[in-house]
Amino acid sequence: MDPPILEQLREQTRPAHVALEAQSLLKTLLSSRLTEREYGQLLQSMSAFYQALESELVPATTALLARHPDPDYRYLPRAPLLANDIRALGCGSPDVVHPPAALRLDGSDAYLLGVLYVIEGSTQGGRYIARHLTHTLGVSEDTGASFFNIHRWDNSWMAFRHWLGRDLARHYEDDITRMIEGANTTFSTLHTHLDQWQILTDEK
Ligand code: HEM
Repeated sequence: MDPPILEQLREQTRPAHVALEAQSLLKTLLSSRLTEREYGQLLQSMSAFYQALESELVPATTALLARHPDPDYRYLPRAPLLANDIRALGCGSPDVVHPPAALRLDGSDAYLLGVLYVIEGSTQGGRYIARHLTHTLGVSEDTGASFFNIHRWDNSWMAFRHWLGRDLARHYEDDITRMIEGANTTFSTLHTHLDQWQILTDEK
């Protein structure tokens, strides 16, 4: 059984997760008629989102880990993986095409942990998406789908859950509301970002 803090995060963000799964770029990603161009569009939009977020997220997580060291958890930057996937597919520049809907941290540890919960947890959906990408486009972790295959070689979801549930829970149990806010804002900002990206791309 998961520690209560993780159960609360999952429960309180379930509606945002369900809504994001129905976002049309993500629905297209799971279509049996997915094209390489559509997959490339999703990678570009994810790349813009993570590039903007990680310039703040990576140093903030390093600082949090310095205050609460953990033998196993470290944050794996996603932007370089997405850039590699875009290059492997030859589907355009990994540089930002449209400005992303930016997710800003609020300076609190609890909020940051909520953001990390969403990013680390998303590797679980990645398992399913990776299988689908192999079946539809024949891409694997070396040929354009490293981002969706993180779970194969990085166990940071497991490490994060232990870190949060075991060591950090007692520090932040009074801040759970802010943690949930960080998580829900991550879901909603990504959702808005994908919606805007799609509109701007369709207009081109
Ligand atoms: C179409 C896209 C997606 C599908 C089909 C999907 C599906 C899933 C599935 C099957 C799980 C595992 C549930 C379990 O094992 O209990 C999961 C977990 C999760 N997903 Fe997604 N997902 C998608 C997109 C995303 C995105 C874009 C994010 C956030 C960036 C996200 C965040 C999470 C989180 C945080 C969890 C962990 C929940 C927990 O166990 O606490 N997912 N997802």
